[in-house]
Amino acid sequence: MLAGKHVVCGVSGGIAAYKAAALVSALAQKGGHVHVVMTRAAAEFVSPLTFRSLTGNPVHSEMFEEPKVWKVEHVGLAEQADLAVVAPATANVLAKMAVGVADDFLSTLLLALTCPVFAAPAMNRAMYRHEATQHNLALLRGRGVRMIGPAVGMQACGTAGEGRMSEPEEIVAALEGFLARRGRWQGRKVVVTAGGTREPLDPVRYIGNAGSGKMGHALAEAFQESGAQVVLVTAAEREAAVGVKCVRVMTAEQMRTAVLEEFAEADVVVKTAAVADYRPVRVAEKKIKKDVGGSGVDSIEGDGDAERFGKDNDGLGTDGNGTCEDGSVCRHDDGRLSVELVPNPDILAELGRIKVNDIRKPSGIGRTSSIGKQNGIGKPNGIGKPNDIGWKKPFLVGFAAETHDVLAHAEEKLRRKNADMFVVNDVTQEGAGFGGDTNIVSVLFRDGSREEWPLMSKTEVARRLVDVIGDRMT
Ligand code: CTP
Repeated sequence: MLAGKHVVCGVSGGIAAYKAAALVSALAQKGGHVHVVMTRAAAEFVSPLTFRSLTGNPVHSEMFEEPKVWKVEHVGLAEQADLAVVAPATANVLAKMAVGVADDFLSTLLLALTCPVFAAPAMNRAMYRHEATQHNLALLRGRGVRMIGPAVGMQACGTAGEGRMSEPEEIVAALEGFLARRGRWQGRKVVVTAGGTREPLDPVRYIGNAGSGKMGHALAEAFQESGAQVVLVTAAEREAAVGVKCVRVMTAEQMRTAVLEEFAEADVVVKTAAVADYRPVRVAEKKIKKDVGGSGVDSIEGDGDAERFGKDNDGLGTDGNGTCEDGSVCRHDDGRLSVELVPNPDILAELGRIKVNDIRKPSGIGRTSSIGKQNGIGKPNGIGKPNDIGWKKPFLVGFAAETHDVLAHAEEKLRRKNADMFVVNDVTQEGAGFGGDTNIVSVLFRDGSREEWPLMSKTEVARRLVDVIGDRMT
């Protein structure tokens, strides 16, 4: 796994720096090209010569020393690195990473890195428990740094507790596990939907919901980082990770079209999007005006209490019978405004139907069937087919945000929509609401099993989901 990989090993100044020698040695023995970067304090504990001898590479410490290769060195190393691990990661270096301080070679390099970064915290248990350290750890986790440990045990200060650096073998195992999990996504296509759809009422207004797109964008990034080919169909106005194909949509109908276009070759579809269940029957061509007198809105003859935004004025048709049943936006005499809504297609349920039907009829839907054609996905593909390792393609994952009877609702949706897995959260719980950076989820599987996950950053939830989906598919 590690053979041929460029691994940056950051060593900061704690007594556990002596264990970094064993870590560096193990990484080098596994064929990794190890580049050690030490803080000045670390060099007080272990000589740079130790690391140079173990790796056969120069050891970096000072920003302004004579360069070992002719390139801005921290940038050169950052570009080259496949992985980085800071071990030991002291409270000080974690704090610098959290706020982006760049005052020595290691902290400057850490800011320039774009590869996955791991840290193995090591410090006295009181320092570890301190609110400032915990805050920094949470910030870093949320930003994607993977923490290994710390372990509980005897500490250099003579007391026992949480804060010991994980053993070098555990750190190596964590790095190898990461690389192994990443390898299995190579060549697989994943479609993720994100954000709350917006259903327009007129050119300037829409009916929307609280879906922020954070979870879906985090998932797209986690899949991309794992080596999958990712298509993100998003209704959220936020950046997509580099390397992700991003399809921007607004409405449920647009999302459906985009998903069906990508569905045929997908190995996994994850629907985190909060899709509006209804949309206005019609969209007014012109802005709907507040003031009846000044709006030029047609009066409705006959009903005595409502006016409709007529086609001539607002682009909405009237049926002339004095009701609002043709889908117009109606203003009533008492100031109320009513909007008629129609159901949107249920995209996940439609994908589930296509998949299940294809299993039942091997030569049918998803290849050239009427449903396949109707959905514009008549291409030959593997939809609904058991592949050589047994799971049915594509693996369908739904999300549900609930306020009550959380598990019962999710279980019912999983069955009704023919999903393979459902991720559900109770939005009334602190830390699990819309728009936040954290989530608390339950993961339900088709076989009836379930996992309950504690409060985690959305980045961590996303990464864990990538692993769990990968496990269920293999
Ligand atoms: N979903 C979808 N299309 C819809 C509605 C929902 O694809 N029109 C997907 C969502 O992306 C999500 C899952 O179905 O993955 C569950 O969404 P949710 O809104 O919780 O389910 P609904 O069936 O709409 O039920 P309700 O809104 O009544 O809770």
